Amino acid sequence: MSKQEQADLLLKVDHLTVRFAMKRSGWGKKSYLYAVDDVSFEIKRGETLAIVGESGSGKTTTALAVARLVHAHEGIVDLDGKNFLELQGEALRKARAKLQFIFQDPYSSLNPRLRAEAVVREPLDSLDAVPVAERQAIVDRLFTAVGLRPEQQRLFPHQFSGGQRQRIGIARALATQPELIICDEPVSALDVAVQAQILNLLRRLQGEFNLTYLFISHDLGVVQHMCDSVAVMYMGKIVEHADRMSLFTKPLHPYTSALLSAVPSVDKKRREATKRILIPGDPPDPVNPPKGCRFANRCPVAQPQCSQSEPELSEVAAGHKVACHLVDEKAISPL
Ligand SMILES: Nc1ncnc2c1ncn2[C@@H]1O[C@H](COP(=O)(O)OP(=O)(O)OP(=O)(O)O)[C@@H](O)[C@H]1O
Ligand code: SF4
Ligand SMILES: [Mg+2]
Repeated sequence: MSKQEQADLLLKVDHLTVRFAMKRSGWGKKSYLYAVDDVSFEIKRGETLAIVGESGSGKTTTALAVARLVHAHEGIVDLDGKNFLELQGEALRKARAKLQFIFQDPYSSLNPRLRAEAVVREPLDSLDAVPVAERQAIVDRLFTAVGLRPEQQRLFPHQFSGGQRQRIGIARALATQPELIICDEPVSALDVAVQAQILNLLRRLQGEFNLTYLFISHDLGVVQHMCDSVAVMYMGKIVEHADRMSLFTKPLHPYTSALLSAVPSVDKKRREATKRILIPGDPPDPVNPPKGCRFANRCPVAQPQCSQSEPELSEVAAGHKVACHLVDEKAISPL
């Protein structure tokens, strides 16, 4: 990688693995659930990477491990040139300010006893990097930036609607002037019309504050106008990773194709041309994943070889990686 490419990258995650120890029954061997299993990705400054996948695929655990909110068993999280997982003391404190979270449910993530202004100011108070006298002016600016009125600063979280509460969560995340914001299902709890407003706000703020987003969603429809690239996760692994255009127009992994077929398209032609691909059944037990492809028991085009060995994530076209035995360098979808 050239020096310029390195400088363009804000986040580079390598071989991230998070496992949870499962309770032993009797004297049996200790078993682990690999919630995140050897996951690698990178995000350029000012861009958005979306991580999508169904419930339990490991999206949140990946994000929590990147932010050191759960312990990574293995891996490197290079944030702005330093391994965030190894930082300590003052260096860690400084790096923490660069990374903030926006959660799905702004209600449970906001302290109900604090007025909105205090909620937004709290990260400034705990970081203590800005003189006390300057903090109120920052809070005022953030309220305006996220589209809230100044007098709303005095209200408590329960006095806001869901969308407004998410705006408070966003203002709070921006308080420490972060570079990377991890948005974990930030609009999943909101009505469709409000979802669009919050997504537009996030896009506008991205340009205004030069933010980099790691955007998590179970819904490809939500991320289609939000991201530069997409990583699709299934049972702790990335199964497909590509730029937005390639992934939405030329999905290669059968799981991605199925997820995409469920996205209502605004384009009538595409809507008529896409058949809904249903994925039967449930993922297998994550504590005892199957030997071969983890998607084999649900895959509409599975072959005997799929249950024999696990497909590796490999690059089949420029910047387009996929883990499927039936996709080779010709990069043709098996579906
Ligand atoms: N603290 C924990 N202890 C044990 N298992 C956990 C823990 N946290 C998550 N898991 C398991 O790890 C796997 C991944 O969970 P995770 O919450 O990361 O998925 P997700 O993709 O964010 O799902 P959702 O869309 O429901 O939020 C799941 O099987 C989950 O049950
Ligand atoms: S490796 Fe086989 S089972 Fe897995 S996604 Fe590809 S075709 Fe389906
Ligand atoms: Mg989650």
